[in-house]
Amino acid sequence: MLQKRSYYSFLIIGIVFFALFFVKCQTNGHQITVLESVSSPSDNPISAEKISFGKKLFFDKRLSRDESISCATCHVPAFAFTDRKKVSEGVNGGKTERNAPTLLNAGFLKTMMFDAHLTSLEMQAIVPIQEHVEMDMKMKELIKRLRLVDEYQEAAKRIYNREVDAFVITRSIAAFERSLLSQNSHFDSYYYKKNKNALTKDEIAGWKIFSEELYCTKCHPAPGFTNYVAENNGLYLNYGQDKGRFRIFNDSMDIGKFKVPSLRNVELTYPYMHDGSLASLDAIFSHYENGGAKHPLQSKIIQPFTLTKKQKKQLKLFLFSLTDTTYMKDFR
Ligand code: HEC
Ligand code: HEC
Repeated sequence: MLQKRSYYSFLIIGIVFFALFFVKCQTNGHQITVLESVSSPSDNPISAEKISFGKKLFFDKRLSRDESISCATCHVPAFAFTDRKKVSEGVNGGKTERNAPTLLNAGFLKTMMFDAHLTSLEMQAIVPIQEHVEMDMKMKELIKRLRLVDEYQEAAKRIYNREVDAFVITRSIAAFERSLLSQNSHFDSYYYKKNKNALTKDEIAGWKIFSEELYCTKCHPAPGFTNYVAENNGLYLNYGQDKGRFRIFNDSMDIGKFKVPSLRNVELTYPYMHDGSLASLDAIFSHYENGGAKHPLQSKIIQPFTLTKKQKKQLKLFLFSLTDTTYMKDFR
């Protein structure tokens, strides 16, 4: 009797060990994160299968009307998921109004778009698909088209127990986006992992300028290097056509407010600002040194300052220490 019982307990312990090991293997590939882990909405728990399905959709040009454009056309992995253009080009050479933002760490965004108005990656994914100057595809047509792809139908049934539809497409793409993490920069080693040698003296001096001498961390605080809200940083005295968040809610206090972009991988994401109008970090520094263009609703935080040539170099070196391309191991 006793022997039989211990036999069973050994068996159970063995099964538990195996299950834990299995779970660890399943998550390992996508959990390189060290700072924060991304949480998923309750109706779309993340899984390795969803991520890999979403990745295929992200690179699939069939998502656009004439099959010429995929999400990756404007969000290029090697450029930190931007496209190095002032504004992007969609089907038929259509031009977007704005500069393509990075998708790295998009899982942490509280709101999406420069207007900071969309509240989930699932909802956001529909926009570029249907937008005329981007992919110009009717969702109904897209569903028909993708249901002809056996691999997609099989994945949809296996993961969601339904055929390919808008639910399947948006949830898979969003799961893939949540897997795009970039948090292993030299700065992270220095600041979070307490590796004192991870930054050079100049980079540390640049971090001090950014966080203590100037006011940058008021809107671009670590770890995300954004406060995740829309602010008016005084880019223009007159915003012209694109008045930012104002165009969504028609609140005149929102004129000139754009979502604060993360500065992670800023070395790779030029040109800058919502319209790609500033080509370099030097242009950015001049903008802030001048204290902005003095738009009446410009944030009061932004005030003129002067930096020496050396300090500007240090500030730039610090910003470059936020580059982390380890995510590229999944895109070679
Ligand atoms: C033709 C170029 C183009 C294509 C194709 C495109 N995007 Fe974008 N994407 C942009 C631009 C430009 C913006 C900024 C729009 C804005 O803020 O008004 C953007 C914004 C986003 C954002 C918001 C990020 C943030 O920081 O707020 C996400 C997420 C995103 N795109 C994902 C996708 C996905 C997923 C696809 C494919 C289904 C896709 N994009 C296809 C150009 C493109
Ligand atoms: C009041 C909030 C605020 C403060 C303070 C602030 N920024 Fe910004 N920053 C923004 C906003 C908003 C944008 C985007 C504006 C747009 O798209 O038109 C931005 C954009 C940037 C960009 C371009 C990023 C990209 O990908 O386009 C850089 C670089 C930058 N800021 C650096 C700094 C530095 C350096 C400081 C300190 C001198 C600073 N910011 C202070 C709000 C702020």
